[in-house]
Amino acid sequence: MGPKKKYDVIVVGSGIAGLSVALRLADKGHTVGIITKKDSAESNTNYAQGGIAAVTSNSDEVAIHVEDTLKAGDGLCDRPVVEEILRDGPQGINGLIEKGVNFSLLEDGRISLGKEGGHSKRRILHVKDVTGKAIEKALLHSVETNPLIETLEHYFAVELITVDKLKQNNQDISETNRVVGLFALNINNNRVETFEAKAVLLATGGMGQIYQFTTNPLIATGDGIAMAYRAGAEIQNMEFIQFHPTAFYSQKNERFLITEALRGEGGILRNLDGEAFMENYDERKDLAPRDVVARSIDREMKRSGAEHLWLDATSLGLETLQKRFPNIYDYCKNRGIEIEKEWIPIVPAAHYLCGGVKTNLNGETDIPGLYACGEVACTGLHGANRLASNSLLEAVVMANRGADSLQEYLKNSDTFSMESIQWIDGDLEISDERVVLTHNRDELQRTMWDYVSIVRTNKRLKRAWSRLINLESEINEYYWNFKVDVSLLELRNMITTAKLVVGCALQRKESRGLHFNLDYPNN
Ligand code: FAD
Ligand code: SIN
Repeated sequence: MGPKKKYDVIVVGSGIAGLSVALRLADKGHTVGIITKKDSAESNTNYAQGGIAAVTSNSDEVAIHVEDTLKAGDGLCDRPVVEEILRDGPQGINGLIEKGVNFSLLEDGRISLGKEGGHSKRRILHVKDVTGKAIEKALLHSVETNPLIETLEHYFAVELITVDKLKQNNQDISETNRVVGLFALNINNNRVETFEAKAVLLATGGMGQIYQFTTNPLIATGDGIAMAYRAGAEIQNMEFIQFHPTAFYSQKNERFLITEALRGEGGILRNLDGEAFMENYDERKDLAPRDVVARSIDREMKRSGAEHLWLDATSLGLETLQKRFPNIYDYCKNRGIEIEKEWIPIVPAAHYLCGGVKTNLNGETDIPGLYACGEVACTGLHGANRLASNSLLEAVVMANRGADSLQEYLKNSDTFSMESIQWIDGDLEISDERVVLTHNRDELQRTMWDYVSIVRTNKRLKRAWSRLINLESEINEYYWNFKVDVSLLELRNMITTAKLVVGCALQRKESRGLHFNLDYPNN
């Protein structure tokens, strides 16, 4: 049985990164297959609120954006990478506008620019507080009308196919290693199919779901990182998990984001005594970078034993709240809180992965034919802590660069015939054992939340590591013996990703940026 489908490039993921790469490749005449595990729109991108950071006003300069990014990144950003990506920011924004993203305007027709933590200027372009939804909709519309792009929804990318892996079964292969396709599970019929391509681009986003409390939707299970790791690609900076300071507190696991832009317009954090405590921690107060604010909230909560703190947005007034933040206004109102009069209960939640699959400025990993872009990738832009709203920007700029570099790669790359290559499934059906998967997913999320969160210690990290080793051995047994399905595959990827986080955290013998370890508190 031959491969199900062949494309020049397979893109895994349909968020801002995957869609942008696919569109640029198709513009250059290449065929692209987008594989996405749920409906196309379901992505972190779709939930982005605050906006996209770029220098678009005369009172701002790229050099200042660079300095803000470097400062937030706490000494670990790669300066040339920061300079190049931010320099290309305005071009990336123009590309989005051309594709139909209508950024919010001021009454005089100028672009409305928001402010977020760590930015010394107003530079966040936004569409009210639903920026991601507007971007996703515009890009999906362009993709749907492009004849060179085929989008396969409800397909789950399982494993990359590399020449090295094929050599393990066929001694006659003499080629050097490269990625030549992938296996993906067709979720509709639960069959794994073989896909052939000259190159694969991972745009699978982040891994917030490895934590009990996260702003990320269910898709964020670290699949791309785990796949790349298994294929032998270099992964880096996994200890730098960004916790967003303000997610809506509820007694369920749900953590709806309350955008930092609300603080940019005058919102203030308050502790249970009503005190505006951020001035005790940082001179930038409520608009300090996220690592500082999240740690300060954590300290205030531990000091008082509070289950949540407050965000006071009452000073913004009803009209601004309804016009500028309609999504948040409605969300809170539906839960009985009128934010023009009442404070919003907030807690930090896992939000963004600064590390990931290491790429250069062309989106290339260290395996030929394997590219990565967006949150799954680690370019060196964010260092130890991402500056707010630099993520959408990085995705859109790197998508252009990645697509251009892929075009060059495709000129000298042939497809590798995979007529005889077929997925071999385990014999057993997962049925009454399903409870083990649910239990283990829950245990993983709690372990990461309790031991690998905002404040860490060596002891807690080691405890997490030993739990993860147990979970890994159980899931491996399932993987090799049972027919695969989404919950098994996701859990396996989540465990791999969590191990990478804890492994990197154990190696870092200092506190830096988002990685704060009480055993090394002063550096
Ligand atoms: P995503 O948008 O997450 O897309 C990943 C895609 O990969 C999805 O389509 C998913 O289904 C698919 N996928 C994953 N695994 C598989 C698999 N195994 N097989 C097939 N498909 C798979 N950043 C900013 O810059 N500004 C903001 O205002 C902002 N607000 C945010 C608000 C929220 C609530 C969240 C969660 C994040 C926010 N971020 C923001 C971060 C930003 O949205 C993300 O980093 C960015 O959207 C990631 O884009 P992406 O294309 O890399 O991945
Ligand atoms: C937010 O709107 O607060 C999120 C912005 C981001 O994650 O960059």
